[in-house]
Amino acid sequence: MSTQKSFIYGSLVDENNLCNFEREAERLVNGCLGGKRFVVFGRRNFGKTSLVRNVVAGRFLAEETKRKRKGMVIYANFLGIADKADLNRELRIAFTKAFSACFPLKEVMGSLGRFFTGLRPNMSLDPLTGETSFGLTLADGGGEVPFEDIMTRIGNLTSQGGVCPLLIMDEFQDLHFISGAEAKMRDALESLPSGVAVIVLGSKKHILSKIFARPDAPLAGWGEDIEMPCIEKEVYRSYANERFALHGLYLPADSSTFLQERLDQVPEAMNMVCARLIDLCGNIPPPKKVRSITTDDVGVAILSWLEARSDRYREYLAGYTSHESKVLAAVARKGLVKSPQSKDFLLTIPGISSSGCIKIIKKLEDHAVVYRESGDNPGYFLADPLLAEFLRRF
Ligand SMILES: Nc1ncnc2c1ncn2[C@@H]1O[C@H](COP(=O)(O)OP(=O)(O)OP(=O)(O)O)[C@@H](O)[C@H]1O
Ligand SMILES: [Mg+2]
Repeated sequence: MSTQKSFIYGSLVDENNLCNFEREAERLVNGCLGGKRFVVFGRRNFGKTSLVRNVVAGRFLAEETKRKRKGMVIYANFLGIADKADLNRELRIAFTKAFSACFPLKEVMGSLGRFFTGLRPNMSLDPLTGETSFGLTLADGGGEVPFEDIMTRIGNLTSQGGVCPLLIMDEFQDLHFISGAEAKMRDALESLPSGVAVIVLGSKKHILSKIFARPDAPLAGWGEDIEMPCIEKEVYRSYANERFALHGLYLPADSSTFLQERLDQVPEAMNMVCARLIDLCGNIPPPKKVRSITTDDVGVAILSWLEARSDRYREYLAGYTSHESKVLAAVARKGLVKSPQSKDFLLTIPGISSSGCIKIIKKLEDHAVVYRESGDNPGYFLADPLLAEFLRRF
């Protein structure tokens, strides 16, 4: 684990660099040790995967070891799965990886064969790294191992192997688009023995609610919800100042509020701009005294970030049709769109009909590019504040 304190973006955050979420971590670890089930959800880039993979999983395993039990973390990511075969493959790979990490290979191939009745464990050698790994196929040569079968074997870990498993399924909502998968997953989850802890993660609240929240949803009432909140402004400021101090910089309250509000309190966007601030203003030699970051510095850092990344934003937008890009730009300019069918909004996207606009907004919402806020101030807005800035300026 990295001990260096820095502003991380574009990858998972290690425990040392994860700001906040101690309360959520504690609740998850304690719950998982007791075999509970959770649904963790929140906006894109709010630290869900980092929290669960890099903090909760490690603490869970350490706690199990302290209790003289063998923990096993099975991490599967459903991002972009398109059919049942993808789902089967993802869970099978997650299961075999977890097994390899938990048991010495010899043990896996030998005495633990009982977990694999009906399956054929096989070893392979990676010619580049020289590492051996093991895989699973159906013993009768009948193709893919169905994910329901893997789930049953995860359930058997407790009774047959004295193992305490924690099953993590990331981007769980992508299952919704695979015909029949939700019902099969519900049966598999409901058949898991009570000691098996499960964490489901997702960033698309409107789809998750179709799976978990509505009264007629396939998994209505399953698990405890944990919503990842915005990091409190003062908590992020002191996190930022711990890192700025290493570069002769200080973020005062007004600049901090400006930065956080401008970037919608999205942690990844804030980290990106803070890293830029260090590049632009930090360590001007000799660092005689600490330099205070101004709101102008923040504005310059945002602009400089957008300029440096403009090709990437353009490439990203090229993946959308011209009508979709038009709607994206109009949402960015408006900030919050209360009603996409309203005359007001349609006037900003000439050539696009009301029904066309609704269709586009729905697609953008399904892609988690646009979010719908339902609380006190309802409406649609762009999930990525830096993409919104880019669309407004360029
Ligand atoms: N609590 C945090 N402390 C520091 N950085 C954070 C935090 N939460 C999120 N980030 C930033 O967000 C980025 C993405 O983190 P992560 O992948 O864990 O989020 P996520 O919620 O799982 O995102 P997604 O919805 O895309 O899966 C990190 O690289 C980091 O820049
Ligand atoms: Mg994630």
